[in-house]
Amino acid sequence: MSLIAYVNGRFLPLASAHVHIEDRGFQFADGVYEVIACYGGGFLALDAHLERLKRSCDAIRLAPPVDMEAMGGLVHEIYRRNRLEDAMIYIQITRGVAPRMHVPGGDLAPTLILTVRPLPEVDEEKLLYGVSGITRPDIRWKRCDIKSIALLASVLGKQEAVREGAAETFWLDAQGHVLEGCSTNILAVIDDTLVTHPTDHAILGGITRDLLLRLARRHRIPVQERPWKMSEPGLAECMLTSTTNAVLPLTRMDGKVIGDGRPGPVSTRLRSLMLAEIERLCRT
Ligand code: PDD
Repeated sequence: MSLIAYVNGRFLPLASAHVHIEDRGFQFADGVYEVIACYGGGFLALDAHLERLKRSCDAIRLAPPVDMEAMGGLVHEIYRRNRLEDAMIYIQITRGVAPRMHVPGGDLAPTLILTVRPLPEVDEEKLLYGVSGITRPDIRWKRCDIKSIALLASVLGKQEAVREGAAETFWLDAQGHVLEGCSTNILAVIDDTLVTHPTDHAILGGITRDLLLRLARRHRIPVQERPWKMSEPGLAECMLTSTTNAVLPLTRMDGKVIGDGRPGPVSTRLRSLMLAEIERLCRT
């Protein structure tokens, strides 16, 4: 069965779902997006994703074509129509279609599309051995808190990771602090404390990162949101978080082993706490 997409008020087979070549998403990457996971019909932190979508829209002064309550309804409807069990729902909003000028004339009707894909299963080998990353200087813009559809730096970073046999590229600021990955947040365990970059303009405030920090605090694992470096003494573990991966242990960075090179006790515990939390939030 073909997948169904939503485009500006209509549900269509994916193959016949189109937007105009003068859409500002295509011409200028003038838009924002969200990715939401659904487990067997239960959406993980849907409200938090819709709040972040609204914040991204506000930050680029784009009035979404429907309010966030109606958006939630569309998310449910596109999931229902695609008949998948576990799925990822993409929402993309652009400023609309207009002759190509940086400042468009007149009021535009924003473009809204929703697409759905099966949620990839995390492979057992990654859990058993952890994944590897590389670090690179951050080449992105200075508003990474906005979930912008302009993802060229992330595409290049991901491609470089693949060339180097790694799962992700992590961006470093000018002082060498680890910010986040191309599509993931990163946390370290330093002297038994879970450490991660604060949510400023340099990173996307990940919904999974937030869930994980809340879980850690609830289970009395000390948390610090502060700039940190891979070279810090006492760094024993690293892990990444994202909607599609939940929590994954990172066991190598730039060809060097992290800790003893195996998924550490804190990452392993946090992953199982997170899976239980996903179960609780989505299946109940
Ligand atoms: N990526 N940082 C960046 C730059 C991201 O693009 C993402 C999400 C995250 C993790 O955020 P969350 O936990 O809310 O998924 C961090 C999504 C999954 C994507 O682009 O596919």
